[in-house]
This record gives sequence, C-alpha cells and structure tokens, in this order.
Amino acid sequence: MNKWYRSVHLPHTPLSDKGYVTLSREHIDLSCKAATEGMVLLKNDGTLPLAKGTPVALLGKGTCDYVRGGGGSGEVHTSYIRNIAEGIELLAPGSTYAPLNDYYRDYVQSQRDKGVEFGMLAEPELPDALLEGARQHADVAIVSISRFSGEGWDRPCGFPCGADDPWDQQTVDQRADKGVFMKGDFSLTDAERATVDKAFAAFGTVIVLLNVGGVVDTAWLSDPHVSAALLTWQAGMEGGLAAAKLLFGDANPSGKLADTFPMHISDFPSTADFHQSRYYVNYTEDVYVGYRYFETIPGMKERVCYPFGFGLSYTTFNVKCTGVSQREHDLTFRVQVTNTGSRAGREVVQLYVSAPQGKLGKPARHLLAFRKTAMLSPGEQAEFDLAADLRDAASYDDTGAVCRSAWVLEMGEYGFHLGTDVRSAPIVHTLVLAQDETVQQLISHLAPTSLPRRLKADGSYETLPCREPRSLDADNLPNKDSNAPRPEPDPNAPPFQEEPVYGRILLRDVAEGRADMEAFLAQLTDDELIHLCGGQPNMGVADTCGMGNLPAYGVPNIMTADGPAGVRINPPAPVRTTCFPCGTLLACTWDPAIVEAVGAAGGEELRENDEVMWLTPAVNIHRNPLCGRNFEYYSEDPFIAGVMGAAMVRGIQSAGVSACVKHFCCNDKEHFRNESDSRLSERALREIYLRAFQRIVRDSAPMSIMTSYNAVNGWRTAESRELLTDILRGEWGYEGLVITDWWGHSEHHLEVLAGNDVKMPTGFPARLREALDRGIITRSDLLACVRRLMQFLCRVG
Ligand code: BGC
Repeated sequence: MNKWYRSVHLPHTPLSDKGYVTLSREHIDLSCKAATEGMVLLKNDGTLPLAKGTPVALLGKGTCDYVRGGGGSGEVHTSYIRNIAEGIELLAPGSTYAPLNDYYRDYVQSQRDKGVEFGMLAEPELPDALLEGARQHADVAIVSISRFSGEGWDRPCGFPCGADDPWDQQTVDQRADKGVFMKGDFSLTDAERATVDKAFAAFGTVIVLLNVGGVVDTAWLSDPHVSAALLTWQAGMEGGLAAAKLLFGDANPSGKLADTFPMHISDFPSTADFHQSRYYVNYTEDVYVGYRYFETIPGMKERVCYPFGFGLSYTTFNVKCTGVSQREHDLTFRVQVTNTGSRAGREVVQLYVSAPQGKLGKPARHLLAFRKTAMLSPGEQAEFDLAADLRDAASYDDTGAVCRSAWVLEMGEYGFHLGTDVRSAPIVHTLVLAQDETVQQLISHLAPTSLPRRLKADGSYETLPCREPRSLDADNLPNKDSNAPRPEPDPNAPPFQEEPVYGRILLRDVAEGRADMEAFLAQLTDDELIHLCGGQPNMGVADTCGMGNLPAYGVPNIMTADGPAGVRINPPAPVRTTCFPCGTLLACTWDPAIVEAVGAAGGEELRENDEVMWLTPAVNIHRNPLCGRNFEYYSEDPFIAGVMGAAMVRGIQSAGVSACVKHFCCNDKEHFRNESDSRLSERALREIYLRAFQRIVRDSAPMSIMTSYNAVNGWRTAESRELLTDILRGEWGYEGLVITDWWGHSEHHLEVLAGNDVKMPTGFPARLREALDRGIITRSDLLACVRRLMQFLCRVG
C-alpha cells in the first residue's frame, strides 16, 4: 500500500480480512478481560466468590449509574455500556431483585434526562417497601458507589484547601445534582451513608463495589457489616460484566493497588494547599509522594487503610526468594511462587528497596521491579528471575550534599524487600556500599525560583536555595499569544493532492530513500516552514485536528485522536469505538502484556479510522486524589507508571501509528491548569515527575510527546528549552516529535526556540513571521522543528 494511503484517501475500510476491528468482539472481550485483571479485591471474609444462583439485592444508584471512565478528552463514545445490574443479570440470570433494579434504572434515566452526569447524581432514598421486597428475595446485598471526574476541573474536597479553592456551592451545583458533593466526593454522601446503613441493618451479608476513578474513603469498609469489597475502578464498556465475573468466581481477582488508600483526604500532604493559588502549586512534600510519604513520615503508616501493592485473591500463594546474584549494579532475584489454595489464580511479586538515610533523606521504600505470574493452578509452582538495577535506587542530589546535580548512591546498607505489597515484603537481601557512588553526573536544569520549603524524611521541613526568577522580556517580543485571537484552522485549506508538482522533491521521495531530507527542506520558503509549525484542519472523522498538510510538496495532513481509554471520535461522526478501562485500572493489572494488548487494539482502531497519532498514554503522577484527571493516569509511583506507559506505547506503535505521551510534565491539577506554575525541587522533578517519561523514552521510543499547559518553576513547559532540548533530547536522546497541548497559552516563537515542534491545534503564523522578521527566531530554528515533523511523517503511515 502507498505511503500515507489511509491518511490521504480516508478509505475507512476494514483493517482486517475478517472485517472491521473497531468495536470488534475481540476488542470488547479484551476490554472485559483487562477490567477483570485490574479490579482489586480489598476485603473478603469468605463470602466471595458467590455461588451461581445465589439471590442478591443490588442497592445504591451505582447499580445503574455505572461510570465507564472520566470526562473531557478522555471520554470514549462507544456503542453500549454494561452497568452492574446488567452485568450480574447476564452472568447469573434471575439472581437480582428486579423491582429494585427498575427503581434505580428509572431514577438514573430521569436524572440523565435532566443533564446530570453519570456518577454525579444524588443517591435517592431507598423506599422501605422495596427494601423489604429485596430482603425477602436475598440474604446478600451488593451496594454500589460510583464517582465521576473529568478534564478541566478537580474533585470537590469538602473543606477549603487553599485561598483559591474554586469549589463553592455554585460550582458544585453546576457539576452535580444540587449540593450532592458539598462534603466532597472522597467520602460517602449522607444519602449514600443512609443506603449503606439500611443495607447493614437489613442484610447479613453486604458486599461493596467501588466504581471510582481515583482514591476514595475506604475506612468505612472496616465495619464488620462489610463482608467483602471490590474496587472496580472505572472499568470501560464491560465493567458491569467484569465485576460480575469476579463476584461469581468466573474470574479470580488479581489486581493490586497502584495507589495508597489512606483514611482521609487530609492525610495527603498536598491536600491542605492544593488550591493555595490559581497561579502556582508548591510541591512542598518533595519526593514523599504516595507510599513514599505514608511509609516514611513518622506517624503516617497508621493512617493507611490499604497500602500500595495490596490486593486479595480467592486463592493463596507462597512467595519465596530462593537466591540472589549480583554483577556490578545488576541484581537477580530467583523467585518461587506456589499456589497453595484451591483455585487457579495469578500473583504479583513486588521488589522494593530501602536506601540508607545518609546526607540525603530517602523514602523508606521504593519499587524497583515486579512481575505478575501466569495463571497458576492449585498446587502449581512458577519460578522466574526478577532483575533489578541498583542504579534505580539512586537519589538525585540537587543541593550538593554528596555531589551536586548528580544521581548518587550513598554509602550504607541497601535492603531488598520481596513480597506482595509494600508492607508485606520481608527483607530478602542486603548489600553495603562502602563509599558514595556517583551514578550519573548531570547539570542543573529547571531549578525552582520560588519554593518556600520541602519535606524531609523525618517529617520536618528544610528551606531550599532558589535561582533567580526568569526575566520575561528576555525574548524582546511582548507576550501576547495567550491574549491574541485564536486563529482557527482553515477549513478551506486545500486537501492533500498526490500529483507531483514538476521538479519538486516530494516528501515521499525522502521517505522512500530517493531524496535527501536536507534537499527537500531547502525547497521550502520561510512561510511554508511557519505553516508546518502549526496544527492543521480536521479531515475524515477526526475532531482534534492534524499536522503537516503541504500538498504541493506531498506532505500529508495526518490526523490525531484522543484517548487513552479508547479512540475518541466525537458525534456526529457515526463511528463508535471500544471503551477500555481507565488508566488507573490498567496500572492495577500489574501486567504490561495486557496493557500492550490494549495499546495495540487502540492503535488498530485509530488506523482503521484513518488517523495516525493517538494522544495516549497519559502518565502524570497521582500527586493528590483531588486531581480531576487521575483516572487517565496510572499511579502515584513513577516506576509502574513508566512500565505501563512503555507497554502502552509499544502496543500502539505496533499498529503502525504513533503514540503521543502526555502531559509533559507536572500537570497534576486541573483547575487553572493554563495559568498554574508547578514549583518543585529538581530532586522531586527528577525522581518522581520526569521518571515515567524517561523510562518510556528509553524503553519504547515513542514517536511523539505532548507538553503540558502548566509551567514548571516559572517556565511554560512548551517554552522550556531546558526541559525539551537539554533534558528530553540532550540527556535522554529522544528523537521524536514534540507538540503542545491544545490551545495552550505559550508563545509560539518561544516554543520553536525551546524545541516544541508543532503548536496544536493550530499555529500563530503571523506571530512567527513577526519573530522571524525581527530576528528573534531564525530560519534554522524553524527548520529544526520542521525537520523533526518531516522525520516523524516519514516514520508513520
Ligand atoms: C487535553 C489533552 C487532549 C487535547 C486534545 C486537551 O484539552 O489536555 O489531553 O489530548 O485536549 O483533545
């Protein structure tokens, strides 16, 4: 097939001989399978699995108000969504109490008709007559609680978390049914609590399902009335069926938490100041994020309900380390896992390191490696090696305590803990470094200009030296792109035409090795280069625009589509795509292979719909549960986020299209994201927030990366040469394309200077021209961006 055939001709023909892959049975089954693998069994007194045929009563509007995924650009338009009631009835017909299902279904429909979002509805009162009927029908109640959040807004906290907290009565009411989350959405609402209390009073056995996109209150699950609890997450289009399979034992839970679940939202060190200002966020907790905080800071362990890595199964396992070997920095742990129970199941073996508290404080634990076993039958044993690199235990020294601007391993004892969660991981090996070791010497980049203090391992704070703030007029061009009228992509731009213009080198000649890239670029005028630095109009079913589009030189206009829970094609386009589970659930599978399979399936759907760049995966860190977009992201831990992100990229790119890893970086809050400066130490930046991106670049060579809206230490990420040229391309050797997030507020000419190649969804050509005419940017600056775009186009399609 000709290069860029699908992008040019938009044939919308099936990709496979067997028909369309988009929303195929195979992809829907994969979505369901991934969902069962990533749901986490939090509690079970032996009630689960239920025998098929056990009558159950489904309580709570979450029974029908099932949330498949979060909102905004991560929302996927699919053909159906199977809720909890439908899933259970499909698997165990007749087991539920139909009048109660009808009651919730009708209620949810009536609220939806009024425009209330899924998961944002008030819990209706459970009528006594229906409760009595349900009680006659069943001894077992299944109570479902659901939550929704989305792009552009953070979850309501319930108490002020800073002077610029945007959540007041009015905003809560806009998002949700009147006043429903006035106490925040972390805890149960009063109405939900009333339903739960009724369930406790009426039923001997109560099972709880949490259909949520982020960390919520689980302290109440310790109530002895709760027999079992399953964290279903937002599990995609088949989430109801996946939950049913686990409840009735058609599948055995094997998901493990990729986040810590503490007692209360205020237990997170970043909650109190989350909305301190619309203009900045101080990352004062430094590297102590998630379990690094709860396992290290004195007194915080006791605040944890469910630790990182935790998850139950219907069987039991014995995990043993049978030997350790070491060659320089490479450690190999021989692991034996035996299924000691009576059901087939999978276990996740996790390896943590504890580094010595030297001149630099260290998190008490830090995930180094993990592996999920294959399905093991009762009595079956698996043996494998778990490899770890000691250098991954290094700390970034940003003040010169050991060696300034270097990754260092401090002298002292390193403990290696192997087990099944961050707490249940006994020490299996120690090694002692007799002296400090510099693993990699770097130079200071993106140092903070203003961060009042940072947390230390003992719970106290230290002040940080800060560099001079950036001088905003250094570029000589008044900052005005963010206020300038937005140029819309031109809908009348000429479509791509394949006819060669006589005498010109076409991009295909370069892609197919008949011509040299530099000779191709030399033909382009300055204005043509400027044109290529901006996004291009939609074609076909795309609605997030494209890039390229210079027909006279055979440059195609390739289309993008959103993700990450599926390929997002907005109505009115008639195409519906597979809705996969949210990113957080995928991380909880601890199974890169299934994440890679989801990536490959999504990549194929993208390609079948004549699009080329999937704006997936999203790998920001779960710094605080309030972030409205956490559902899209993987974890509080950068290692698992990096492993899963790399798996997703490999899958996507195996389909011949480009992944686009986003949002680079520190976009950890949604309200005011275009104005907010994430202020953090170089150490936190390196050890937590850049790490997943770095691993993905190293392990899966993504073809594109998207910068974020926010600034980092005073620099908008798309304008940061230190971030894009010095760190990403210089240190990490990244060779792909960098694009902005959509309609970001950075200046186009500063993006060009920083190494951000394409401004999406459209450029500011007049402003670029002005910058060129005034000598602020040069033709060679433009060429650097366009060269990378052309190289990217030569690789895809
Ligand atoms: C989001 C991105 C998304 C883009 C295109 C932005 O608002 O932050 O994640 O890919 O829109 O829809």
